[in-house]
Amino acid sequence: MKSQEGHPMIRTVASTQSEMTEIILPNDTNMLGNLLGGRLMHFIDLTGAMAAYRHARTHVVTAAMDHIDFIQPVRLGDLVTLKSSVNRAFTSSMEVGVKVWAENTRTGAVSHVASAYMVFVAVDEHGRLQKVPQLQPETPDEIRRHEDALLRRQHREREHARRKQAKIEAAALGNAGAIEP
Ligand SMILES: CC(C)(COP(=O)(O)OP(=O)(O)OC[C@H]1O[C@@H](n2cnc3c(N)ncnc32)[C@H](O)[C@@H]1OP(=O)(O)O)[C@@H](O)C(=O)NCCC(=O)NCCS
Repeated sequence: MKSQEGHPMIRTVASTQSEMTEIILPNDTNMLGNLLGGRLMHFIDLTGAMAAYRHARTHVVTAAMDHIDFIQPVRLGDLVTLKSSVNRAFTSSMEVGVKVWAENTRTGAVSHVASAYMVFVAVDEHGRLQKVPQLQPETPDEIRRHEDALLRRQHREREHARRKQAKIEAAALGNAGAIEP
């Protein structure tokens, strides 16, 4: 696995921070005038990728989007602001946190509407894994997120192993067609 030649081996969380604002139009909403969950996930994916690109400085692919909370609906005409940063870098993968706020354009009221954790993997133009720089957390919040990201990675690995085992057992019982995520 190669590292990015000419790039620093350690980056700060601040250097990965990214932000995007969108206005919610009729095409983004359901019949109730609320932002579609899938559209919000698309915005989250894009904003998360921005932080991952800033850390890796190479191509990145989304490996996982987990723990997404839709806390309250976003309405037609709201301004949605998404902020992201890398929580922790591993070997070729990075955990990115994305937080989303909605602003009512008439009242100016801002509310936290969603949060998500994602994993991006750095690859070259042929899809080969690339080593990413280390991440140096600096503030108390960054240190807390850095520690929590390791716990979440361990949880993901346990879940992956559990699902793999369930598939093997289902296949052994002749139940291979069963729907198992
Ligand atoms: C993500 C991907 C590159 C991983 O490739 P792989 O050959 O399975 O790689 P490995 O198993 O060696 O894992 C490589 C890294 O990815 C991480 N990873 C792989 N699958 C993961 C998952 N489902 N969740 C979280 N991390 C994952 C591993 O933990 C490892 O991290 P590390 O190098 O920091 O330790 C590959 O599965 C892929 O290309 N997936 C499709 C990506 C894509 O198209 N995304 C858009 C959504 S449609």
